[in-house]
Amino acid sequence: MPSPQRALSIPGFPEGRRSLTAYAYHFGPGVAYQPAHRFIAADIDLQEGVWLDIGCGPGWLAIFAGSGKPELDVIGIDTSKTMISLAEDNKQGRLNVTFREMDAREVVYPAATFDVVTAVQTAHHWEDPAAIFTEAHRVLKPGGKMYVYEADPDATIPSDWIRRRGVWPPDSVLKRRWQKFGMDQARWDALKAVAGTSAFGANIEDDRHGFYRRLVLTKA
Ligand SMILES: C[S@@+](CC[C@H](N)C(=O)[O-])C[C@H]1O[C@@H](n2cnc3c(N)ncnc32)[C@H](O)[C@@H]1O
Repeated sequence: MPSPQRALSIPGFPEGRRSLTAYAYHFGPGVAYQPAHRFIAADIDLQEGVWLDIGCGPGWLAIFAGSGKPELDVIGIDTSKTMISLAEDNKQGRLNVTFREMDAREVVYPAATFDVVTAVQTAHHWEDPAAIFTEAHRVLKPGGKMYVYEADPDATIPSDWIRRRGVWPPDSVLKRRWQKFGMDQARWDALKAVAGTSAFGANIEDDRHGFYRRLVLTKA
């Protein structure tokens, strides 16, 4: 039996309905969140080394993180083939930004490869967050940091964090999306509890950045 995600078969859309979802994200939230991704890249501000972005989607955080930084390599991974091909188009040939189809539960890079791992608006999809924290910890260098961001449906939205065409998307639409594709306090607390039992141990800060809840996990 094909899964419901695969039931829709469209020539040129390798992942069926999942491809459509990826295109819808690319042209909608993928555009609207670009300023937020610029703020995240500027805030982390890694100038050299290696940065892994998990669940990279159309790739904008990785692209902004790597722009103008020849000493920095940024790798974006995503389980969606379609997202990875959109990210490849978006990067417009930047040599220090690489996108690969890969599951964050099984990262193919050796231990202690990365200075930074980011995960923006992807944790609400994770079926096994413990496995992802374990992998992130393994591939981070000692002293490296993992940043996890999820939109808070109750946040005040800083207007310069969203790219709007006219009034679209209004705050009401964003907040409705974030109820589904973000985390309320209970879901966030559950994610944080999983992180707390991972190899990161007690090295976890829970704060906010813009309209996101943020965890900063440090590898000792
Ligand atoms: C809502 S999109 C967010 C994309 C991007 N981070 C952003 O902020 O625009 C979530 C992405 O996470 C990806 N994803 C979910 N689980 C994943 C996993 N285990 N490993 C890698 N990617 C994953 C999905 O395929 C999807 O593209």
